[in-house]
Amino acid sequence: MTRELVITIDGPAGAGKSTVSKLLAKRLGYIYVDTGAMYRAVAVLARDSEQANLQDESTLKDICLGLDLQFVNKDGTLHLLVNGRDLTTEIRRPEISSLASAISARPVVRERLSEIQRRMGAAGGVVLEGRDMGTVVFPDADVKFFLDANPEIRSKRRYLELEVKGEKTTPQEVYQQMVERDRNDSSRALAPLKPAADAIVVDSSNSEIEEVVQLMLGYIEKQRKARRTLLSSRES
Ligand code: DC
Repeated sequence: MTRELVITIDGPAGAGKSTVSKLLAKRLGYIYVDTGAMYRAVAVLARDSEQANLQDESTLKDICLGLDLQFVNKDGTLHLLVNGRDLTTEIRRPEISSLASAISARPVVRERLSEIQRRMGAAGGVVLEGRDMGTVVFPDADVKFFLDANPEIRSKRRYLELEVKGEKTTPQEVYQQMVERDRNDSSRALAPLKPAADAIVVDSSNSEIEEVVQLMLGYIEKQRKARRTLLSSRES
């Protein structure tokens, strides 16, 4: 039997990674791993930490060492349990987005989360979304996508999501924060946001979600076929 694939989806905030990754995982019967949620979880713990000095490496190190992260399915939605606390809603607050971006540049955090992510994806049959899945965490992934869209469209999508949740913000504020976060995520020294050399770049600016999913399923099916052909030629 062939091992199921490791599929990575990287890209900037608001490009549609979460929606597309969840749909792909569901249709393929794969596990979905939201690695951004993990960085957000560390950001919440850091914010709540009594030793709130985040410049101090040991605060983040303590948080990372004691970290117990679990994605659990509750009534059809995925919840994130962090050290037993359900942080599903809290991690989506706008201030946590900026803090997650800041702490994600720290080596101690990246090392620990990358290790957890590699374990989650090791057996295959997984769709992992993030910023460095195809470049650093799974450089040998079977299919790598880089999902992008223009910043105006991305920030408009993010604003609408926040509005539905009742967050008090403005389109201008969301745009500013997103541009700032893109800059941080792309310019950091460690695992910066960029497409892997062998990633398939997909622009979702003018596409419906279903179009993007179908396009990606086409690439995935091609890869599955190529692997089956390779295996059967080895066996014969
Ligand atoms: O995907 P997201 O917007 O929920 O991610 C929040 C932040 O976490 C993002 O600004 C950068 C960081 N992140 C990262 O550095 N590496 C990842 N693989 C995923 C997220």
